[in-house]
Amino acid sequence: MELSKKAQRIEPSVTLEITAKAKEMKENGVDVISFGAGEPDFNTPKNIIDAAIKAMNDGNTKYTSVNGILPLREAICKKFKEDNGLFYKPSQIVVSTGAKQSLANTFLAILNPGDEVIVPTPYWVSYPELIKLADGKPVFVKSDEKSDYKFTKENLENVVSDKTKAIVLNTPNNPTGTIYSADELKVIANFAKEHDLIIVSDEMYEKLIYDGEKHISIASISQDAYERTIVINGLSKSYAMTGWRIGYCGASEKIAKLMTSIQSHVTSNVCSITQYAAVEALNGPQDKVNEMIGEFEKRRNYMVDTIEGINNLSIIKPKGAFYIMINIEKCLGKEINGQILNDSMDFSAMLLECEKVAVIPGKAFGLDHYVRVSYATSLDAIKEGLMRIKKFVDKLNS
Ligand SMILES: Cc1ncc(COP(=O)(O)O)c(C=O)c1O
Repeated sequence: MELSKKAQRIEPSVTLEITAKAKEMKENGVDVISFGAGEPDFNTPKNIIDAAIKAMNDGNTKYTSVNGILPLREAICKKFKEDNGLFYKPSQIVVSTGAKQSLANTFLAILNPGDEVIVPTPYWVSYPELIKLADGKPVFVKSDEKSDYKFTKENLENVVSDKTKAIVLNTPNNPTGTIYSADELKVIANFAKEHDLIIVSDEMYEKLIYDGEKHISIASISQDAYERTIVINGLSKSYAMTGWRIGYCGASEKIAKLMTSIQSHVTSNVCSITQYAAVEALNGPQDKVNEMIGEFEKRRNYMVDTIEGINNLSIIKPKGAFYIMINIEKCLGKEINGQILNDSMDFSAMLLECEKVAVIPGKAFGLDHYVRVSYATSLDAIKEGLMRIKKFVDKLNS
């Protein structure tokens, strides 16, 4: 029996695979340092947990409206207004099971078979697969080190066609941690207007930014940009709520309605308890979020300084999120334990085998001469892990 061709064309998430492998090794007693995680190592703040317990005790354990309980959609509107200068009505908000589902809903709501979506390289692993699941075609924009791998108008002009329907923007970026400035966003917004494109703006890491940088939502650039943008966000990263599974989007009422209709048949509403906890996360005190950001910044600074001091490695300096892309070009073609490192997959596999350090191969993000490390892990683990990486790189023979 032949199973779905579409499903068979989907690549499983390399990030989740490697993280799971490192977890399994740890469970078997191996002393693994994992730089794979895409999640904060902090627990969810207590006021949020308490709100969830209260929701259960109050009997808020039933189905809710598909697009989310009204107090949560109101809290999201308030957040959009205060943080981003964006004015949405609750009818323009759809709450979903993680930003991942918001993105899945987005592509299912806007794409017809063969529609092309411009995706910047390096990209977050799920964009291409979610676009393919919605019968669209990801078209990758190559950018380079000079522009910190952010796309320029020239890069975009090279790939746009009469089939282009949308463009994905991710700022702060996973995996590079780069942030688009207002001027860069204006160029993209003008480009989208010129070619009548929908902008899918993934702003998951908006709160995790350093060096006094400011996150700007492309939807706030102009009225036109607001109308053509679907803003994606969620609570996983900013509030250490990865396991609660909650994300949301702001869009035109027409698109929000289509997304709600799709979600009504797939998952219905997000877990009711999570939604009540999310109201507290957004409306309650934000001091824990600020503490986490301070801790991430300390770790980032340590990692940047240490990696820059390792021979044959260089980095893209991150301004946000909690990842660093390490350029391993000078290690490729070298040998360890009889194995030549041909690409980022070989580098990651041998690093795990020889030094028990898990990193994500850049291939997963479309940039094969890089590996991604996450600093969402303790400073002690970071110190030990970087020492092992240095040992590994120093051992490579040409
Ligand atoms: C750029 C980006 N967007 C979206 C998501 C999805 O997050 P979640 O589904 O946990 O809300 C992630 C998670 O890793 C991410 O890195």
